[in-house]
Amino acid sequence: MKSEKTKSPSFATMIVLAVLLLVVVLTCVPYLVTIAFAEAPATADASPIFGVTVPQGYKQWELIAPAEEAAPLDELRAVVGNQIAIDAYQDGKLPFPDGTILVKRAWKRKQSPEFASATIPGAATTVQVMVKDSRKYAATGGWGFGRFVNGKPVDEAQHRTCFACHEARAKSRDYVFTRLAP
Ligand code: HEC
Repeated sequence: MKSEKTKSPSFATMIVLAVLLLVVVLTCVPYLVTIAFAEAPATADASPIFGVTVPQGYKQWELIAPAEEAAPLDELRAVVGNQIAIDAYQDGKLPFPDGTILVKRAWKRKQSPEFASATIPGAATTVQVMVKDSRKYAATGGWGFGRFVNGKPVDEAQHRTCFACHEARAKSRDYVFTRLAP
């Protein structure tokens, strides 16, 4: 009799624990999958020195400003940003908060086939990325850099030039040239 009494609550407890464990495991699965997928491609297509990758979905990001580059590059550009970047721009917040990502898209300048005086984007040339992480990239003003051609990062030598130019000309604006287009 005595053992009967002690057994049944412990069996119930075990069921409760098993259910709890199942809930915990099922809750973790999406996170584990996210981590696995986030880390695998990050190493393959990451920029040298900084380990910056082309952020997913950047083609849907909001425009900060267009730009044009004279010859010999002859390019049209568009700088876009993630929501953290857009919020910081709209609030006039400097320095940019950690998590800010800026992407500069670029295309060859091309004459419109339908209208001679109109210039349109031709072939895509580079995608350039700046990621703010003030601790990870403390040595380069808190910014990690990446330049990509056809989705692949360019060499280390090119990545050594990024911060120097941004520092020389745009230090007072948290190393960012582009202002929000009016
Ligand atoms: C010789 C100067 C120079 C170098 C080197 C340079 N940049 Fe820039 N960068 C600029 C200028 C000027 C702009 C402003 C937009 C424009 O004119 O295209 C800019 C804009 C950007 C932007 C948009 C945010 C902003 O600051 O306006 C990103 C992202 C960027 N550069 C990434 C890079 C990366 C990555 C590298 C290295 C691979 C790099 N840049 C090297 C001059 C430079």
